[in-house]
Amino acid sequence: MTLDTVVHGDCLTVLRRLPSEMADLTFADPPFNLAKKYHSYNDRQGQAEYLAWCRAWLRELLRITKPTGSLFVHNIPKWLTHYAAFLNAQADFRHWIAWDALGMPLGKTLMPRHYGILFYAKDRQRQKFYEIRHPHRRCRKCHVLHKDYGGKKPALHPFGPLVSDVWSDLHRIKHASRRAAHPCQLPEAVLERLILMTTDEGDIVVDPFAGTGTTLVAAKKLGRHWLGIELDAGYVAIARDRLLRTQATSRIGDVWVSQVRGTVVTIRDRDWPRLQAYYTIPMPAAALETTPIVLDRRSAAVAVMPPPKVVENLPARRQKTA
Ligand SMILES: C[S@@+](CC[C@H](N)C(=O)[O-])C[C@H]1O[C@@H](n2cnc3c(N)ncnc32)[C@H](O)[C@@H]1O
Repeated sequence: MTLDTVVHGDCLTVLRRLPSEMADLTFADPPFNLAKKYHSYNDRQGQAEYLAWCRAWLRELLRITKPTGSLFVHNIPKWLTHYAAFLNAQADFRHWIAWDALGMPLGKTLMPRHYGILFYAKDRQRQKFYEIRHPHRRCRKCHVLHKDYGGKKPALHPFGPLVSDVWSDLHRIKHASRRAAHPCQLPEAVLERLILMTTDEGDIVVDPFAGTGTTLVAAKKLGRHWLGIELDAGYVAIARDRLLRTQATSRIGDVWVSQVRGTVVTIRDRDWPRLQAYYTIPMPAAALETTPIVLDRRSAAVAVMPPPKVVENLPARRQKTA
């Protein structure tokens, strides 16, 4: 199988042709069985039928993931509980990442306010894993830290805290101008975070439900190899077009980082010693409470690139939060 391609086809058929243990990271963002309007896929199946299909591609994803690799699945909590019951028997559970999302009242229920990303190691003892950091959250106008660190201020990390299993700093794509014509396009920054956390430069990322190619774009920006599978010819065209416009340049100096419109949003903890040379850092550390670090754009300019423009070649649809 050729790498760095988007295969037009059914993921089960294509996955079954892939060699075992070829991927460092597998990420699946399947249809949620919520009757969304995809071009080619009928997103309304019986529960038993949907879950049997999910188990079939999960089994293939486990097979193609390396012993050092990681598997991620994005879905609503209802389906993730079934996935977890299946995966727990064959892989090592790492985390249920709660990704904060806008909700809407559905009546006689708690308002759904998060999507889940299940995170499994093929083998916990051998898995590649890097701690990651996100910037301190601050008041937009006055720049004071949101969190009161009390007596711990002198020990603050200049960039920001380690990322937890609740992600509320990365947002869904709300503006039509920033999204392709797909009902469920994910933001690149979510995938970049997963990729930085569990892979190295040159590693292989596989997404069997490529959609508009977000996972593949994220992998390419970060210097990884990628392979996507997508059922719908229109989405394949969008993904290929995005990938043509994407370069492996999301770094500062020789360090791969994730950024959203010029702001670095995820780094690896181990990279900070090399990255800090590109920042002006207020001293002493307690001054971080009111003063953010500033990236020196001239010295970092080689690397910090704006995100690629999405070409809209199909009519946009409105997206609803599950
Ligand atoms: C939730 S979307 C993925 C969106 C993607 N993460 C993005 O950011 O663009 C699910 C995708 O799976 C595709 N799909 C559905 N059934 C498929 C199958 N059997 N094989 C491959 N792709 C399939 C749909 O066409 C849809 O684009």
